[in-house]
Amino acid sequence: MPSNSTIDYQLLVDNLVTAILLVDHNLNIYYLNSACEALFDLSSLRAKGQPVLNILHRSNDHFKTHEALLNTLNKGQSYTRREAILSVNFKDVHVDYSVSQLQSSIQQAPLLLIELTPIDRMLKIAKEESLSQQHQVTRQLIRGVAHEIKNPLGGIRGATQLLARSLADPQYNEFTDVIISEVDRLRNLADTMLGSRQLPSYSEVNLHEPLERVRALIVNQTKNRIKITRDYDLSLPEINADRDQLIQVMLNISVNAVQAMTENKAFYQDHSPSLCLRTRIQRLVTINGVLHKSTIRIDIEDNGPGIPEELLEAIFYPLVSGRANGTGLGLSIAQNIMHQHSGMIACQSIPGKTTFSLYLPWESNHAAK
Ligand SMILES: Nc1ncnc2c1ncn2[C@@H]1O[C@H](COP(=O)(O)OP(=O)(O)OP(=O)(O)O)[C@@H](O)[C@H]1O
Ligand SMILES: [Mg+2]
Repeated sequence: MPSNSTIDYQLLVDNLVTAILLVDHNLNIYYLNSACEALFDLSSLRAKGQPVLNILHRSNDHFKTHEALLNTLNKGQSYTRREAILSVNFKDVHVDYSVSQLQSSIQQAPLLLIELTPIDRMLKIAKEESLSQQHQVTRQLIRGVAHEIKNPLGGIRGATQLLARSLADPQYNEFTDVIISEVDRLRNLADTMLGSRQLPSYSEVNLHEPLERVRALIVNQTKNRIKITRDYDLSLPEINADRDQLIQVMLNISVNAVQAMTENKAFYQDHSPSLCLRTRIQRLVTINGVLHKSTIRIDIEDNGPGIPEELLEAIFYPLVSGRANGTGLGLSIAQNIMHQHSGMIACQSIPGKTTFSLYLPWESNHAAK
């Protein structure tokens, strides 16, 4: 057991997964650890000295937060609130939190110690892990089916060509042409279902470069009809990744966003379509059961009609599509590429705001793969 003098308490508190807030006797924020900064997307500098009620209390909340905090501060009675919804930076955060009194040796008056556990994240981790396993099984199945479809196609195509040549009456060539073009369409579909057979080729990538590439492609494709905003954190580190595969991921998601915004005529009439590309560092993200201290987050956000609720749970499955002529492979391929990079894609959608967030761990080392 190390002696007290060998423990760096600051380091310890800043590495806790639990978010911690210290509040002074005026109910102003005195300190928040790194997990708390990440939870609220709020820097210590901005938060210090702010009334904690700005975070803990919402105007429509029936719970008497102010009285409860004063009670703990003055009488030392701890309490816990479950499934509270806090509003920070215009973002709702679902948490369980416990408040207790802390007698500090430095401060004369007692402080309040608030420990917060995000429940969203726990639910999300459980859901994502089981989804990821299901996806792997489904992908194997899809690859098997695609393989079986592809096998006889070469034979059908060859035989049809022979047939076409031996037809005495050229008017029947119209029918053999239909067979050949449908066989080709099926072969392209089976190829997409099988996915890329190329092994990823990793190199140091500045993620803004593929993102800018995708932006240029979208500008070109939509002939400037869509407003594209960029909100980049230019201090992002480079990461070891397959640049071309990341372009495919970003493109599949951006194309979906463009389609959602422009194909829905009723929606398009009243809104001007807009796409936002955002990059951030996001601390403490669990991907496939591994907690990463630092990740890069890329948001691709559109103001389209949103993903229908009944589809939202299933969009990453292959062959799930909400579009009349969609194959439903874009997102499944994108998620697969992200898994190969030890990353993931998450999605949140309400009408008017759909965000696909790509998470890539940047302390991870692909040499280990
Ligand atoms: N930004 C978005 N807004 C609304 N719906 C979306 C958005 N992104 C995806 N979707 C829905 O998710 C479905 C699945 O997308 P996915 O890219 O996997 O397949 P697809 O676009 O239908 O076909 P493909 O990409 O293979 O041509 C889409 O059909 C659409 O219904
Ligand atoms: Mg698509």
